[in-house]
Parts: sequence; structure tokens; C-alpha cells
Amino acid sequence: MDSIIVTGNGPLQGQIPIAGAKNACLTLMPATLLSEEPLTLTNAPRLSDIKTMTTLLQSLGSEASSLQDGKVISLSSHDLTSHTADYEIVRKMRASNLVLGPMLARLGQAVVSLPGGCAIGARPMDLHITALEALGAEIELKDGYLHAKAPGGLKGAVHELRFASVGATENTVMAATLAKGTTVLKNAAREPEIVDLVRCLRKMGAQIEGEGSSTITIEGVDRLHGATHPVVTDRIELGTYMIAPAIAGGEVECLGGKLELVQSFAEKLDAAGVSVEETDTGLKVARRNGRVQAVDVKTEVFPGFPTDLQAQMMALMCTAEGEATLDETIFENRFMHAPELTRMGADIEVHGGQARVRGVERLKGAPVMATDLRASVSLILAGLAAEGETRVSRVYHLDRGYENVVAKLRGVGAQIERVKEE
Ligand code: UD1
Repeated sequence: MDSIIVTGNGPLQGQIPIAGAKNACLTLMPATLLSEEPLTLTNAPRLSDIKTMTTLLQSLGSEASSLQDGKVISLSSHDLTSHTADYEIVRKMRASNLVLGPMLARLGQAVVSLPGGCAIGARPMDLHITALEALGAEIELKDGYLHAKAPGGLKGAVHELRFASVGATENTVMAATLAKGTTVLKNAAREPEIVDLVRCLRKMGAQIEGEGSSTITIEGVDRLHGATHPVVTDRIELGTYMIAPAIAGGEVECLGGKLELVQSFAEKLDAAGVSVEETDTGLKVARRNGRVQAVDVKTEVFPGFPTDLQAQMMALMCTAEGEATLDETIFENRFMHAPELTRMGADIEVHGGQARVRGVERLKGAPVMATDLRASVSLILAGLAAEGETRVSRVYHLDRGYENVVAKLRGVGAQIERVKEE
């Protein structure tokens, strides 16, 4: 197991390339199951979660090859040999459940392990199940697996999600592409990753309207064909690196970044005293003067403030002038970074879904532990602004969602290295 050592060494300067979105790629890849023809994804991120999804698809009979050093993923699901997503793979990554809708649509049956408890909350699958049942699926839970079947095929229906779940929207839209008739999904999630999925499905021949709004209408077709699609920019990686110059000072241009992907987040940065400017090549971010100011944040579904940037924002607020309140409304247990940041001298109080952060003038380096994906990167960001050395252990969480974090931050002048843990 590796650790990352960061030593705060002042302002950052330069450019950071932003990769394709992990969360978009993880829903685009299972779309291969909907067609006998090949699906090629370009601008793919090189991450361990992508490898996990590749392994899962291969276990179902898909052929996968990775080209251009992993930036292009070529998938073919001509002959599927299994309809069971095994617990051994699913337990590693919740997004494995995104094979349920496509498999059910293509094969009329699917057996998918429940993902099990996740560190950041319960994350059940009831919304996926009720939506697919509305399309005519029969689903039962046996031995920790969801057994789904649709003997006569799926049928279009009008269904309203109780909550605008990202994964439930993705599973339902994919399933509905091959259902008989029209599906109207209400209270659908509006995240850019869903817009990207719909654009790809449309290239494959699907008839869908309304992506990016809360009502998505899908007209089922008999079959989908092959396509080539570039994965949308990772707005969470983008937001993460936007925090780097905000917390350490300096000016960084995030290449490939677009304001529309991070609007609500950029507004909070602006209120905190960080300028964000769209350029021809990306987003240029600079801390205006002195310390950032405390701003309150509440996580919400898109276009609200993303829960996946809450930990990084908390790291920034640890060094802000004043007191900030962070409300986490999406996941019930997503403040595990707080005690680790406290070890670095932060002043944080957590009560249920709310954290209060009183900014301190300077954080101090300390050995800390990564507890989940976004928590790990928040500790690295805090380390950029801390006095002395911060050693972040258990960085395998980081490899799930950030490619080349050390090289990217070194490129803008940070003192950071990856070492083997004794
Ligand atoms: C996706 C993202 C994840 C992000 C999250 C919220 C991927 C691979 N992951 O996860 O990074 O943090 O969106 O933006 O895209 N819920 C239920 N029942 C369900 C499904 C969800 O109660 O059937 C609850 C969850 O417990 C959670 C909330 O809804 O509290 C949000 O979950 P959801 O939007 O489904 O997130 P994911 O798709 O799992």
C-alpha cells in the first residue's frame, strides 16, 4: 500500500489537464450490453474503477480492449455468456449495479449482487427496483442478489422517482431504450453524466428526449447499434483542482474545464474570494487577495453544489477567515474526512449532517488516513496549505478516481510524492 507525502510550499502556477469523467465512463461502459455491435469510448480516464467495470463486463461475456494507454476503451458485447454480476466484483464498486438495466433489457433477465454497505452511507437500491418494476420487471432478493426478469420483455411506462437518484435514472433510461413503447421518467436526475449517457445512447440509435431536465422521454426501439463517443470532462476532478490554487495561492488553469459543469461550485469559490475565468482552453482559477472568506455550502442534486466536492470544499474552509457551515443532504455519513482534517489543526464540529468549520490561519502537516475517494483528495489539498509534511496513507481510494494526481500537482509546482508504505 502506498502513501502520498505533501509538503506545503506556497503558491501554485501552471496548467492541469482534466480527464474524462469517471462517473460518466462507468455508466457509458455498461451501455455496451444493449447492443451486439461495438462501442468505443474515447477520452476515458485511467482509473482502477474503470478496470473494475471492465472486469465485470468481461465476466458477462463482453470483449474489452484498451487502446492509447487506456484513453480509448473498445467494448463488444456480441455474445453475452452470463447474466450474473458476482458479489466479488460488485462489492468493490457500487456503480457495478449499472449493468442491471441494460442486461434486463437485452437478455430479459439479470442477477446482480447488492453492493453492500458503503463507507459513506446506506445507499440502497429501492429506486432502481421500483423504476424497473414499473417497466414490467419482476425482481426479488435472494441470497444477497437481485434476481430480475422480464419474460415478455420490458414495456414503456410513466414513472416518477421518489428522489432524483443518478444511478436509478441511468439504469432506467438504459433499460427503456429497448422496451416496447414510450417511457416517461419524471423527477429524473439532471447531472452532466446523464446528459453524456443519453448523447451516447442516441448515437447508438436510441430515441430519447429531455436529458438535462427532470423529465426524460424514451421511445423504445428494437435494437441499438455501435457507436464511438468521447467521455465528458470530469467535473469533480475539475472542481478538485480548482481548489488547489484557492487553498495554496497562485493561479492554475484547468485544461478542458467548462463553467457550465461547475457553475454552483464556482459561485461559492467566487464568494470566498477566488476568481474563476473561462478561457478558450479551460478554467483559470486564482485566489484574489490574502485568505479566502468562509462561505456556507449545502450539497444538493445537480445543478446544486455536488456532494462529491464537499470534502474538498471543507479542506478550503479549514483555512478561511470566519466560520462556515457545510450541510450534507445527499449521503448520511460523509464527514469522515473531518477528524483527519482536525489532526492537521482544523477546527471542525460535526452534528449529524452538518459540519461547522472555523477557519484557522495555518494547518499543520500530520499523518492522516484516506477513508474514501473524495476524502483522500481533500487531505492532499489540505496538505498543500499546511506547514510541514502531510503523509496520506491508504491512497488506493485515490486511484479509484484520480489519475496521476502526483504528476498533475507537481506540474503546477507542488511538493508531492508517492512512496511505498513500510
Ligand atoms: C452517483 C455518483 C456518486 C455521487 C452520487 C450523488 C456514480 C458512479 N456515482 O452515485 O459519485 O456521489 O451520484 O451525486 O455516478 N438512494 C436511495 N435509493 C436508491 C438509490 C439511491 O435511497 O435506490 C439514495 C442514496 O442512498 C443516496 C442518494 O440516494 O443517499 C443519492 O444516490 P444516487 O444519486 O443514486 O447516487 P449514485 O448513483 O449511487
